[in-house]
Amino acid sequence: MIVFNNVTKKYGSNVGLINASVHINSGDFVFLVGPSGAGKTTFIRLILKEIEPDSGRIILAGKDITKIRKREIPNIRQKIGMVFQDFRLLEKKTVYENVSFAMEVLHKSRKEIKERVPYVLDLVGIADKANKYPDELSAGEQQRVGIARALVNKPRVLICDEPTGNLDPITAMDIMRLLEQINVRGTTVLMVTHAKDIVDKMNKRVVAIDHGQIVRDEEGSYGFEQQKEEEDDIYIPGFTTFLDPAELRAAQAEINRKNESKRNRTAAPHDPSAYYDDSLVNTYLDGGEDVYE
Ligand SMILES: Nc1ncnc2c1ncn2[C@@H]1O[C@H](COP(=O)(O)OP(=O)(O)O)[C@@H](O)[C@H]1O
Ligand SMILES: [Mg+2]
Repeated sequence: MIVFNNVTKKYGSNVGLINASVHINSGDFVFLVGPSGAGKTTFIRLILKEIEPDSGRIILAGKDITKIRKREIPNIRQKIGMVFQDFRLLEKKTVYENVSFAMEVLHKSRKEIKERVPYVLDLVGIADKANKYPDELSAGEQQRVGIARALVNKPRVLICDEPTGNLDPITAMDIMRLLEQINVRGTTVLMVTHAKDIVDKMNKRVVAIDHGQIVRDEEGSYGFEQQKEEEDDIYIPGFTTFLDPAELRAAQAEINRKNESKRNRTAAPHDPSAYYDDSLVNTYLDGGEDVYE
């Protein structure tokens, strides 16, 4: 789905990434972690083709995006759904309009929009808030709108930049469970985070960057100091990219059950020193020549 092959990106004398090689397969759930300045935002901006690497190859959905033409960039970005720490909702639009807008800018038909928007709102659990405005919603609900917007155009990969950074721990875990459901149904998820407790609890693949280098890539917990936990792969029959709310709920019940039994065996320690950094500077919403404008 996403392949970085010996990718180097420098900003003058500043190192963004050095010789980074990562394979993210279709259907993966990957945490991207590392201290501030490590190169996480650089990694994401390279995928979005907001910046170009100095050397190396980047493949997205089978295409070498370092070779494509500028006018093909919107096609690349349509394969990606972005979720932000600060939600980035349009305050003057309703929940429904925030989501439908993302389809309108891609000139989707009225019929398609009328079918798809209620569907994704239901999927993320906010169908009853369709006519509310963002300031009438809780933070967790606002992030659900952000996720619905990111999903509405059926992206291949969801890139989440500190999606729980503005949420309390309980709401944060609700959002993580939602992302897990979405992933289980076939959407690849790449999530940048500093939330050590969340990474430890989720027990997914963790790619760690430091000083532009990939220093670790394995299943399990946030830091080197933690012992790798026993694998307990969750298998959901009928794996497909089709997102059906009823199926999702059934899948979620299964995930909850497995995670519960896993948690009972290995309680993840809570680390209050987990820290946060800035979210992406250049995005679909403020980045200039992009799909949401
Ligand atoms: N536009 C830029 N100009 C110069 N240096 C930059 C620029 N963007 C990032 N950097 C530098 O590249 C390194 C990696 O930055 P970044 O990818 O933003 O890290 P992270 O997102 O992990 O905090 C840092 O040293 C940062 O200062
Ligand atoms: Mg960053």
